[in-house]
Amino acid sequence: MQLAETFAQMDAFLERSLLRPDPVLQAIAENSAKAGLVPHAVTPLQAEFLALLIRISGARRVLEIGCLGGYSAVAMARALPDGGSLLTTEIDTRTARVAQANIDQSGFGERIDLQIGPAMEALERAHAAGAVFDFVFIDADKVNHRNYLEKALQMARPGTLIVADNIVRGGDVLDAQSRENSVLGVRQMFAYAETLDGVEMTALQTVGAKGYDGMALFRVSQ
Ligand code: DHB
Ligand code: MG
Repeated sequence: MQLAETFAQMDAFLERSLLRPDPVLQAIAENSAKAGLVPHAVTPLQAEFLALLIRISGARRVLEIGCLGGYSAVAMARALPDGGSLLTTEIDTRTARVAQANIDQSGFGERIDLQIGPAMEALERAHAAGAVFDFVFIDADKVNHRNYLEKALQMARPGTLIVADNIVRGGDVLDAQSRENSVLGVRQMFAYAETLDGVEMTALQTVGAKGYDGMALFRVSQ
């Protein structure tokens, strides 16, 4: 059996064993696929991983950079305590319409503020307004991974947890000669990470339904 197929089957096995039927997220996945969105949302197991991190850390103010169809936004917003809020960004207007419909249908729309336009503009606005976040999920255009991490750190407090998606990209991130913008962006993020002080950092390489990738974790020291 091909490794990729094993990864996908193992993901399905783990989902069957560990997750319960989730009509809310399932509807979002189906609507997003029907609307032709790219299949880049986090997997159900990854969504629960993010939700767990939010619950464990006690986060109340979440920033998501890169909304796509709203799958991870809803998964994270749902994990918040009453009064919690999530700001998310989507550059593509048509995608944002699909996401907003998914968010409205989810029952968690009141907690979610979807801002349409380039993520960096939304981040600049939030920063200018004095926003502080307890938890950040970076998952937009990988070209700007480094810039998003820098901005997230500017809106962090001691203890803030930042998760950056897609930091392996099938191993392409190893290639120092790569001309692919997303690889360059991720490599710039790691070069920036080398310069950081007062941030606890690690990364998980992942396999599963979305192939071989990974997430980096950053926690601002207390
Ligand atoms: C891509 C983007 C993602 O956020 C992801 O999780 C997987 C792939 C991409 O642009 O290729
Ligand atoms: Mg991603």
